[in-house]
Amino acid sequence: MESSRRNPIGDVAAAGSLRRVHLVLTGLLALRFCGWASGSAEPRGWISTIPSGGCRRKKIDVTRKRKTKEVEEMVTRTVDLRSDTVTKPTEAMRAAMASADVDDDVLSRDPTAQWFEEEVARIMGKEAAVFVPSGTMGNLISVLVHCEVRGSEVILGDNSHIHIYENGGISTIGGVHPRTVKNNPDGTMDIDRIEAAIRHPDGELYYPTTRLICLENTHANCGGRCISAEYTDKVGELAQKHGLKLHIDGARIFNASAALGVPVHRLIQAADSASVCLSKGLGAPVGSVIVGTKDFITKARRLRKTLGGGMRQIGVLCAAAYVALKDNVVKLEDDHRKAKIFADGLKEIKQLSVDASSVETNMVFFNINESSMISSMSLCEALEKFGVLAMPASSTSVRVVIHYQISESDVHYALTSIKQAIQEILAIGTTK
Ligand SMILES: *Cc1c(COP(=O)(O)O)cnc(C)c1O
Ligand SMILES: *[C@@H]1O[C@H](CO)[C@@H](O)[C@H](O)[C@H]1NC(C)=O
Ligand SMILES: *[C@@H]1O[C@H](CO)[C@@H](O)[C@H](O)[C@H]1NC(C)=O
Repeated sequence: MESSRRNPIGDVAAAGSLRRVHLVLTGLLALRFCGWASGSAEPRGWISTIPSGGCRRKKIDVTRKRKTKEVEEMVTRTVDLRSDTVTKPTEAMRAAMASADVDDDVLSRDPTAQWFEEEVARIMGKEAAVFVPSGTMGNLISVLVHCEVRGSEVILGDNSHIHIYENGGISTIGGVHPRTVKNNPDGTMDIDRIEAAIRHPDGELYYPTTRLICLENTHANCGGRCISAEYTDKVGELAQKHGLKLHIDGARIFNASAALGVPVHRLIQAADSASVCLSKGLGAPVGSVIVGTKDFITKARRLRKTLGGGMRQIGVLCAAAYVALKDNVVKLEDDHRKAKIFADGLKEIKQLSVDASSVETNMVFFNINESSMISSMSLCEALEKFGVLAMPASSTSVRVVIHYQISESDVHYALTSIKQAIQEILAIGTTK
């Protein structure tokens, strides 16, 4: 089909200078409303970097301010560090969504989706790709395609996202048995431990059948650590030696690529399939993509439909995701730099500790000294009053995630707020 080879986003965008004038006007209006300095993004491709959600948030704050004096004193800005999933689509993404050429993707007719999937496959160095609603569905589909026979076993990290945070879907839905191997603090699993976990065919009468190994890059629960291409190659060789497949949960693989200075296609070269979240660091509103061989993707499309993930005019989502891919990959490095500044700042706070050397990408985990008697819950609650949002990772640790809509000044504001929040909690503690 000819339409699938053109860039439906680019064509539409190039079609009318009127639209461009409209965009510029929208951009200027956004600037007027938000104030140049209050936007968190650096002025690079400035129309595309205005976070319109931030603008709306600001307006709400203004109305609130009139209502309560307390809020006026407490909430001056919002710095949302809960996750890199909280980014709001930019004006450029919204404009691309508005003008995307769409049709029914269940009938394989959406030109923007087809073009986007071809682009992603090319960037990731695989034959084909398919857009899916979430990373969880992307991983589930991938595991199920590789483990078509019930009673298959997958080897995966004991701290991996698939094992911990995906409702055990590979078992409940796919009849796939998980065999966990200990994750090292850097997100890897020892190669000899992986090999030892592979079921020997001699025990076929009692054992499940090992069919797949899963890696995670970056490894979220290990602090966003990067997995190297060399390590991945070794696991790939092991998989080949034993006739197994290799899947990479690459929710944040673009972060690993930015941090390691290695292209994404090289990082997943040894893998049979990989999934990537478009809605995390890349900043798209919705979606993930899985990549693999043509045959793998054909099966994946069928399973996507089975799981209720067949969607209609998804060109609107793919158009936003393309802008995310095009504009935001280059910003990842900057996010990582800001995460380092954050970690260095945290080290200066007496009650906190952070292993700054483990901060390789955009995630920072910090610990609260137990002798300070401050729980992560109470710290996060106190921080909310300053408009700083973060998530407890355990009773004594907090997770902070930087994304491209967090500026360096936001980082400094968050650090100051953490210091003040700790002082407030300690003061209350002593008056009790
Ligand atoms: C977020 C995440 C997923 C799942 O993505 P959803 O879109 O939230 O379902 C999978 N793996 C890792 C490592 C993630 O961080
Ligand atoms: C990943 O990269 C994006 C894009 O710059 C960034 O916003 C995000 O903070 C990074 N996240 C992680 C976990 O490295
Ligand atoms: C925790 O705080 C106590 C008291 O301030 C201090 O003596 C101790 O060294 C701290 N521990 C760590 C691991 O920072």
